[in-house]
Amino acid sequence: MAVPEHDPLTGYKTTGHEWDGITELTTPIPSWWVTVFLASCFVAVLYMWLFPSFATTGGYYRGSLGWSSRGDLVDDVAAGRAAQATWRSALVATPIEAIEANEDLRRFATTGGRAAFGQNCAPCHGVGAGGQIGQFPALVDDDWLWGGTIADIYQTIRFGIRSGHEEARDSAMPAFGELISAQEIDAVARFVLALSDPTTLASRQQMPGAPIYATNCAACHGAAGEGGRDFGAPRLNDAIWLYGGTLEDVRKQIVVPRMGMMPAFTTRLDDETIRMLSVYVHTLGGGER
Ligand code: HEC
Ligand code: HEC
Repeated sequence: MAVPEHDPLTGYKTTGHEWDGITELTTPIPSWWVTVFLASCFVAVLYMWLFPSFATTGGYYRGSLGWSSRGDLVDDVAAGRAAQATWRSALVATPIEAIEANEDLRRFATTGGRAAFGQNCAPCHGVGAGGQIGQFPALVDDDWLWGGTIADIYQTIRFGIRSGHEEARDSAMPAFGELISAQEIDAVARFVLALSDPTTLASRQQMPGAPIYATNCAACHGAAGEGGRDFGAPRLNDAIWLYGGTLEDVRKQIVVPRMGMMPAFTTRLDDETIRMLSVYVHTLGGGER
């Protein structure tokens, strides 16, 4: 290896590497580059000092400015709320039945209600409130378990269904598997299916299931299967099924009934939001006056 020496032309030192007479210079880093580098280091340290920047054993360094992206969001939300304050207070001050008559208030409520529905209700009832067969009822049709006036809907959303809240809508269909024989269950299931079949209108009362139905089921589901809203008992004489409309589905429900559960929302959402949701659901198509 050659010894480093000065390059006579540039005055710089050489690295001592030489290839066929060509030597490599150790050109010093330009001063502009060093300045920019040091300035960047300074900005980085300044940034670390001002903003949340590194983890500590007990969490993280919060920065001397106290800024956080969450704090930004809270401010934005507060500003949004302040802009809506007039509408929100009108929503609470207006009796729930009268909200829809006010065009502006109705529009404000359905817009907010749609957003809140997506966040809170869509996982069960579906994005467009179409429900999920076998589990969660559709809210877009006029088939209501507990009632479809806006006051009914408001109450359902506030307290839930079998939610454990003391004002929740509550009822329980008995497990007939322990009360009547398998043969009787089969007979009454066939009678239930006949209720929604118009061709059996004249003959259905002669079916073996008819008297079993009258004794055990009519009190909740109605003599002709028209449903009973005091108990949230579904109509059985239409083609809309919560838990499926095959003989097997109906038999299963009679043996060990599935009881749908919906959480109470008073403990999770403010009254304004629940009113918006009520208006939104009521205006989906099946709302009753
Ligand atoms: C955990 C799932 C779940 C969530 C979340 C949920 N629901 Fe429900 N909801 C149900 C079930 C289950 C029923 C039917 C209960 C029954 O069988 O009586 C129901 C019933 C209803 C009913 C009564 C329907 C009728 O026919 O009378 C309304 C209205 C309703 N939900 C609205 C809402 C709204 C609005 C939200 C959001 C704030 C919501 N639900 C969130 C599960 C849910
Ligand atoms: C105490 C009231 C009560 C009695 C009595 C009762 N039911 Fe029910 N029934 C209900 C309720 C409430 C539901 C809805 C359960 C739910 O929402 O999860 C239901 C649901 C059903 C369903 C499911 C309907 C659907 O849309 O999927 C069928 C089928 C049914 N009952 C049949 C019967 C038959 C048959 C009898 C008599 C042997 C009977 N029920 C007696 C309250 C009752």
